[in-house]
Amino acid sequence: MKKVSISFTLNGDEVTAEVPPSWTLLKTLREYFELTGAKEGCGAGECGACTVIIDGEAVNSCIYPIPEVEGKSVTTIEGIAGKDGTLHPLQKAFIENNGVQCGFCTSGMIMSAKSLLDRNPAPTRDEIRKSIAGNLCRCTGYVQIVESIEKAAEMIKGAK
Ligand code: FES
Ligand code: FES
Repeated sequence: MKKVSISFTLNGDEVTAEVPPSWTLLKTLREYFELTGAKEGCGAGECGACTVIIDGEAVNSCIYPIPEVEGKSVTTIEGIAGKDGTLHPLQKAFIENNGVQCGFCTSGMIMSAKSLLDRNPAPTRDEIRKSIAGNLCRCTGYVQIVESIEKAAEMIKGAK
């Protein structure tokens, strides 16, 4: 099968993927780079389980064609903890505030929330809700998820 060579930044590292041009970013992350934090739920851009951040924006990687990633900067859930393994405040807050139930939606929720907090470190509850409007939780733990994001914002503010 014909392959293309796509170079981009992945979690801070310069990488090149040799994959069929029909592949999505999600398929490339999971099957070429073996980064399985981003999940495939619907595969159609509707559930947010596959959310990653590209150049600061939360995107659905399941519908993002890999050729369009050339030269961009991609951050996945695997790239947000510290190099020493210290969890990101969002990861800590989700654990401490029961924001995780089965966990299937969690990496997507956290990446959408990270995209928000990077732009707006003190969001209102409404802004938090809007930021995760494209992320579905089949366990319906939305209250704890919103509270976890609020707590993460407080933790980040307290650390500055
Ligand atoms: S798997 Fe990408 S939006 Fe559902
Ligand atoms: S925690 Fe199960 S889908 Fe959200």
